[in-house]
Amino acid sequence: MIEDGGQENPLPESGLTVGIIYNLKRGIRNHVVDAEAEYDSMDTVRAIQRALEEGGARVLLLEADLELPEKLASARMDIAFNIAEGFNGRGREAQIPALLNMRGIPFTGSDETTLCIALDKALTKRLLATYHIRSPRYAVIRRGEAPRLDGMRFPVIVKPNAEGSSKGISDISVVRSRAELLELARRNLELYGGDMLAEEYIEGREFTVGLLGNGEETRVFRPMEIIYRSGVEIPGGYRVYSYPVKQDFERYVSYECPAALTPAQEAEMARASKTAYRALGCRDFARIDYRLGADGQLYFIEINPLPGLAPGYSDFPMLAGFCGVEYGELVRGVLRAALRRCGLGLRAAAV
Ligand SMILES: Nc1ncnc2c1ncn2[C@@H]1O[C@H](COP(=O)(O)OP(=O)(O)OP(=O)(O)O)[C@@H](O)[C@H]1O
Ligand SMILES: [Mg+2]
Repeated sequence: MIEDGGQENPLPESGLTVGIIYNLKRGIRNHVVDAEAEYDSMDTVRAIQRALEEGGARVLLLEADLELPEKLASARMDIAFNIAEGFNGRGREAQIPALLNMRGIPFTGSDETTLCIALDKALTKRLLATYHIRSPRYAVIRRGEAPRLDGMRFPVIVKPNAEGSSKGISDISVVRSRAELLELARRNLELYGGDMLAEEYIEGREFTVGLLGNGEETRVFRPMEIIYRSGVEIPGGYRVYSYPVKQDFERYVSYECPAALTPAQEAEMARASKTAYRALGCRDFARIDYRLGADGQLYFIEINPLPGLAPGYSDFPMLAGFCGVEYGELVRGVLRAALRRCGLGLRAAAV
């Protein structure tokens, strides 16, 4: 079994071979600053590799490029650790899980159907509304169609309907009038391609909740609050965890976990998180963002069934760390959850 880089790893005792599948930032289309925001760096891939090897696994590195189908045909692995974002379009995160399913290769994380739905923020909101999970009022804006903004109150945030990592969310994303909204939507439709989501802007505290595991064993981590530093001017004036803020997060925000919430507020967040996770068929891990409105109501913002795992940067490893689960343990926790789910519990015990 050959690593993507052409090197053999020594066979560890557990005998488990894990193929990490990923997309790397390549510096292409860099006239759009956040064009590759979702892709990973080799540092993240290596950090996951280290964590898996520390658990006794043998690791193959497989970049999810156009040759991936051939690589999968020749690679021998027990399970894939999928962090690949895929290429192009609303269904891109589903591409690699679909390929893995075609080949019958078990993999970590959610399947293609869940990833497709969750990447479409409007579809997800509509689905979760049937489970009584409240989210901000919204309208989808499509190229060439007049947007229907019936009853929406300004300010409104305009964001791509199917992106992540704050791609397309900048210091100009919150608008105060219909004219501003139409202008921004027109610009973003041009720049980012897919549909835009216009959503009532919820002024209020922001939280993110991580989940790990499956079924009754799912662990819901305590909420982490993203606290905007007082006295530091946020680009654009609104407290938005935007791409520029995430790039320079230490300057703009601090994190508190567990967040200062009443037991009832925390219980509501945990309940909503479990419901959303189940409703969407999430597997192994996910992260959910919320805002607590000035009206005291909890608003679901979005769910990430493929949350970033960049150590020292991504929110999921950060919140897990606050809850006493260090990076390597989190990565192995995802793998263990997947192995158990696939009926490979004995292998899971060895990781
Ligand atoms: N309706 C809203 N009201 C207030 N703030 C919002 C709203 N929607 C988004 N935001 C702000 O914009 C940020 C990014 O939005 P969102 O989480 O939808 O995007 P994302 O790119 O999918 O994020 P991630 O990096 O978590 O994948 C949020 O963390 C929040 O600060
Ligand atoms: Mg988010």
